[in-house]
Amino acid sequence: MIDIKLFTKSVEKTEIRQFSDRIIDSVKSRFSNLNHGDWDRWSSVIKTLPDNNHTKIQLDSDVITIGNSDDVDNESRIFLESSLRKLHPWRKGPFKVFNILINTEWRSDYKWNRLKNLISPLKDRVVLDVGCGNGYHCLRSVGDGAKLAIGVDPNILYFSQYRSLQKYLGETPVHILPITLNDLNFEFQAFDTTFSMGVLYHSKSPIEHLLQIKSTLKSGGQAVIETLVIDGSVKDVLMPEGRYAKMKNVWFIPSCLQLELWLKRCGYKNINLLNVTKTTINEQRKTDWMTFESLEDYLSKDFQHTIEGYPAPLRAIFTAEVP
Ligand SMILES: C[S@@+](CC[C@H](N)C(=O)[O-])C[C@H]1O[C@@H](n2cnc3c(N)ncnc32)[C@H](O)[C@@H]1O
Repeated sequence: MIDIKLFTKSVEKTEIRQFSDRIIDSVKSRFSNLNHGDWDRWSSVIKTLPDNNHTKIQLDSDVITIGNSDDVDNESRIFLESSLRKLHPWRKGPFKVFNILINTEWRSDYKWNRLKNLISPLKDRVVLDVGCGNGYHCLRSVGDGAKLAIGVDPNILYFSQYRSLQKYLGETPVHILPITLNDLNFEFQAFDTTFSMGVLYHSKSPIEHLLQIKSTLKSGGQAVIETLVIDGSVKDVLMPEGRYAKMKNVWFIPSCLQLELWLKRCGYKNINLLNVTKTTINEQRKTDWMTFESLEDYLSKDFQHTIEGYPAPLRAIFTAEVP
């Protein structure tokens, strides 16, 4: 489960307070219906992590750093590392926990560095991250001054990874909820910034997704949308016939101009394209914390196409505001 006491305390001084009970009920309902073969194993990893009351947390650096090497003895560090490795695969990061470097599949800091100086400053903002994975970007949001960051992602492994880190994060106002935005099923109109990064192309109804993101934001709030795009005109959208880069669940990959049109038609204003970047094998790669296949295995030899023959992954970041 989530830490209900800390969650209630974190939302107390924000507009999210009014939704607090309903959010907690949604999370409880998720756990009461949870039927995941690995949950008992992951949850016992979290329960047996060694206690530690260190003070140093650094959330505003590329490698999120929790504690120092001097805070734990060697035996505890070895136990901690083997526990954290049981939560394999670690996809988003990197993190350093008591000097144990969790070298994740993705350098999620690359994405953050592309957007952090171009979005509305996060200082004192209330942030939602839809499809937050293990919470890396929520932690970076608080590192950049957000007063609260809530992440939603139904993946129980990523939730377990966050819970393992949360053990050492004190009262950091970040809460990762193992549910989808649909599970919350109400219009917040309460967040200052909502991130949707790496989620739109997984959505069967991208317009519905953009409208849902809009409904989370208060008037003047900012959506940060990051997704796969293709080169092309306002008329171009790629719908893969089957898999895209071996992923089964990729539905629509628009051109930037087409995505801009979607945002306009959804009623967003001040739409800005911040960045377009080709994903490289420096940013997404196999490591000893993620030993499965990675980007290199999904691409043609010259890295220009996916192994299915589609254009290789190109990602755009847009910001758009709610009137
Ligand atoms: C490609 S990852 C992106 C993670 C992170 N946002 C990033 O940019 O690195 C997509 C994540 O979205 C989650 N996801 C997919 N559909 C979702 C939904 N409807 N609501 C919330 N999360 C979703 C998946 O579980 C996965 O962790």
